[in-house]
Amino acid sequence: MSHKQLVLSGMQPTNTLHLGNYLGALKNWVKMQDQMPCLFCVVDMHAITADAGYGQPAELTRSTREVAAAYIAGGVDPKRSPIFNQGQVPEHGELAWVFNCVARLGWLDRMTQFKEKSGKHKERASVGLYTYPVLMAADILVYRATHVPVGEDQKQHLELARDIAAKFNNDFGVPDFFPQPEPVITGSGTRVMSLRDGSKKMSKSDESDNSRINLTDDADMIADKIRRAKTDPHPLPGPKDELAGRPEAENLLNIYAALADQDRDKVIIDFAGQNFSTFKSALADLTVARLEPITREMRRLLADPAEIDRVLKDGAQKARAIATPIMDEVKKTVGFII
Ligand code: TYM
Repeated sequence: MSHKQLVLSGMQPTNTLHLGNYLGALKNWVKMQDQMPCLFCVVDMHAITADAGYGQPAELTRSTREVAAAYIAGGVDPKRSPIFNQGQVPEHGELAWVFNCVARLGWLDRMTQFKEKSGKHKERASVGLYTYPVLMAADILVYRATHVPVGEDQKQHLELARDIAAKFNNDFGVPDFFPQPEPVITGSGTRVMSLRDGSKKMSKSDESDNSRINLTDDADMIADKIRRAKTDPHPLPGPKDELAGRPEAENLLNIYAALADQDRDKVIIDFAGQNFSTFKSALADLTVARLEPITREMRRLLADPAEIDRVLKDGAQKARAIATPIMDEVKKTVGFII
């Protein structure tokens, strides 16, 4: 049996979204709406696995609305592609429990994101942070989603979702029950790096705000952060020059290419041999031109939180209409009386 094509993706409402979230995910979501049906989730249940989302209910609520506003401002059309928060669709948590019994400890022990996030004191991390990728598998498979547009950092989690799907299908003798969801990782923005250190990914949790461009930054802040971005002492490379060993130059070129929707090679030709200050000012102009309309629309949407809540409720109803019958099938397959 082949499964119907369906896209599912999500972002965590912890801190503010940044350019990496936009270029690695949101920008591609908008394109995918024209290719297949899509569902976009704000993963508030994942957010409480992080310190920034835990024990601060007002901040979590605010941040959930902000992420929903970013989806819409970035081009997701909630009439076509339901937008909802995970907390309003109980089937995510129900399936995650079943999947906790499918996934093996050894599989989760290999997850690099848990190792990074738990740091030196693994025993002090929450159990939720550890089983985070299991909930992510449930987010996807509770809809039998087939395509998951994400940045490169989520690849390992997608592999786990595929392993969980295969093991469930095998252990319960239902070969086609869940599809094998495919990561969709395309373009030059799939791994946007920190502006302060080209070897670290741009992240919401980086202590330095200058390391990232937030979707809420104004034009002056964007220009200032790009001006201060770390570079090396050499001019920009030409088409035949090596980029290896120049992570900051590579990152800025990738960002430009992703924002301009151009091939990186074309950007290299256009700026070959120029100094960074010229390139940075072009990059700042382009970034502002791309982000400013999104930021403005986010601000407008956030002025009416009740309207955002209506969008989320409506999205959750549509999402449940898909998830509930699938979850009923899961329960029957497992042997639960329903
Ligand atoms: P999150 O909230 O960390 O990030 C949201 C999306 O942004 C991408 N991303 C990046 N892309 C390029 N460069 C970067 N520096 C960068 N930083 C973040 C991420 O790859 C992601 O696509 N576990 C997920 C959320 C999630 C999810 C899901 C995603 C929960 N359930 C189901 C897809 C399907 C996460 O923490 O993303």
